Amino acid sequence: MIIHSASFVRSSPSINLCPPQEKPEFGFIGRSNVGKSSLINMLTGWSQLARISANPGKTRTINHFLINESWYLVDLPGYGYAKVPLKMRDEWMKSVNEFILKRENLICLFVLIDSRHEPQKSDLAFMEFLGINQIPFARVFTKRDKVSEISFEKICRQYDNEMLEKWESLPETFYTSAVNRKGRDEILNFIEETINKLSNSI
Ligand code: GTP
Ligand code: MG
Repeated sequence: MIIHSASFVRSSPSINLCPPQEKPEFGFIGRSNVGKSSLINMLTGWSQLARISANPGKTRTINHFLINESWYLVDLPGYGYAKVPLKMRDEWMKSVNEFILKRENLICLFVLIDSRHEPQKSDLAFMEFLGINQIPFARVFTKRDKVSEISFEKICRQYDNEMLEKWESLPETFYTSAVNRKGRDEILNFIEETINKLSNSI
């Protein structure tokens, strides 16, 4: 898929303030600082589209980006970040949960996982929550440039083993680096195929 255009549409504190549900959308979610906003910039090829920060907790609202005038990428706040006031965190999580469960045009959620860390309870629990609620998702192991081949393989294997204890099969999985653009073509092809399948089924 070639990206011809990418533009910021809206930053919404809650689902009822999001753009109308008339175009397919793909969400990016994961723990704070995992690289959601960086991945959106890498995919679109526009380095300053979504705001990134070395400090966790940067994205605090639901951010829609319109791609090729026909579908959305959605940057979501991170989960599991302890340094914001509890009430604020609860509000983010409430609006993100509502978005995930109720947004009808959400075609797939990319769940980002930091390649550097052993399986995290919050990531496993979050994917279980998606499974229970039958929300289509794919895994994305981020920051691939920061880990050696050996530890990367070990961490992926640990995730797979943990998940296969509860799941019959593993979700679609991508490996990315916002630094060297690894995984870009694979994710964009997946998005293109998913949109094509959707339009063929209508
Ligand atoms: P929140 O909005 O706070 O939840 O964070 P986020 O998940 O959107 O992360 P963000 O894209 O802001 O990136 C966090 C930090 O990780 C920044 O310092 C990025 O430059 C860095 N980063 C993101 N992706 C990569 C990557 O693939 N490789 C490397 N080396 N650094 C990355
Ligand atoms: Mg962000």
